[in-house]
Amino acid sequence: MGVKIVDTCLRDGHQSLFATRMTTDEVLCALSELDKAGYYALEVWGGATFDSCLRFLNEDPWERLRKVRAICKNTKLQMLFRGQNILGYKHYADDVVDKFVQKSLENGIDIIRVFDALNDIRNLKQAVDSTNKYGGHCQIALSYTTSPVHTVDYYVNLAKEVEKMGAHSLCIKDMAGVLLPEDAYELFSKLKANTKLPLELHTHCTGGIAEMTVMKAIEAGCDIVDTALSPLAGGTSQPCTESLQYALQGTKYDPKLDVKMLEAAAVKLSKVREKYLANGLLNPKALGINPNILKYQVPGGMLSNLMNQLKSQGAMDKYEEVLKEVPRVRKDLGYPPLVTPLSQMVGTQAVMNILSGERYKIVPKEINEYVRGLYGKSPAPIDEAVKKKILGDGDVKIITHRPADDLEPQFEAYKEKYKDLVKSDEDVLSCALFEQVAVKFLENRDKKVSEDKDEVIEVNLYIG
Ligand code: CO
Repeated sequence: MGVKIVDTCLRDGHQSLFATRMTTDEVLCALSELDKAGYYALEVWGGATFDSCLRFLNEDPWERLRKVRAICKNTKLQMLFRGQNILGYKHYADDVVDKFVQKSLENGIDIIRVFDALNDIRNLKQAVDSTNKYGGHCQIALSYTTSPVHTVDYYVNLAKEVEKMGAHSLCIKDMAGVLLPEDAYELFSKLKANTKLPLELHTHCTGGIAEMTVMKAIEAGCDIVDTALSPLAGGTSQPCTESLQYALQGTKYDPKLDVKMLEAAAVKLSKVREKYLANGLLNPKALGINPNILKYQVPGGMLSNLMNQLKSQGAMDKYEEVLKEVPRVRKDLGYPPLVTPLSQMVGTQAVMNILSGERYKIVPKEINEYVRGLYGKSPAPIDEAVKKKILGDGDVKIITHRPADDLEPQFEAYKEKYKDLVKSDEDVLSCALFEQVAVKFLENRDKKVSEDKDEVIEVNLYIG
């Protein structure tokens, strides 16, 4: 059987290349062609798309999903779901996770790809259970990273556990694009031998190796791969869909996509790409190859975030020093994978360590919470001296149980708090996840004003 393809152009494609700014009209413009191309699924929704709709586009993300669903009659729709964080940054109570899963499926999602930045599977459990409860396809994605603890055996053991948990498929999520071709071959071979779950690979072209890695994963038995249609492919995004189709055509791996439909969709989405190139949101730098990510093992988006942080503080001369500090901070903190929200947290700590002239003299609240166990279990133990420096000598409570166990149900409280503003449970969920921006959006919706947004070219906060 051929390889199945998930196209990410409408989620990770524009998230990676131009800060997730595609409008709903742009998302819809080539959708009927994409729907007829023969994909296994289209990834269309996630934290950044949801946030960007409310924050920058003055659009309702739920409405986008319903419009996409109305056009997509043949193809499954997939979303990215950050475990107990849902689409936000903090841990939510189980009832909010459950309600979000229910409403996502009701509004049109078929496949929920759930991951946790730390691969702490306790943080996946509620999302998995809810997806199964409401009849969705639950895919668990394991965050891929390199470290002394992130061995092939580590991933194989996790794969066995997630199979037992009730996942329907398993994805290796290489958000940084650092998975090497031979490592992918070994990893997918061993996963194939140890689990019955269909296997998928998500990687990024940033370092210039993604196509090789995808090919080796396919040879090792990977069933599904993520690619992006050409206008949204390459650079910091995924490998190109059409190119992979041509490369595999006539082989036993032939994805059998309809090239005519791909071409027709690409013509339309090329106009979108041209717009963002012209207005500067698509920086040509994002389209190039950056082998430094293989040297530093950090996602491309993180490199540009760090550069922006240092520029704003007039400290660009410290760039190399900060880059060298990132792996040290990771080691101190027990090798967290650099994916949202840990990528931002580790990056900020590295910047503070260098700029303040003393390591862990200044510690962001989030890092303090991480050390106290509030994000879950670190992959390796946190360095004792660093822990002491961060928490001090007082008897600070460190938790070892699942962080969300401490949270009382929250949904009804949000509903009550915003009862004059919300018209649906979907609105309540928007408020729960992105409180300030959602409230502002809903107030404006009611006033029916279309205010001019200051177009701030922000760094892309999401790594995934
Ligand atoms: Co990604």
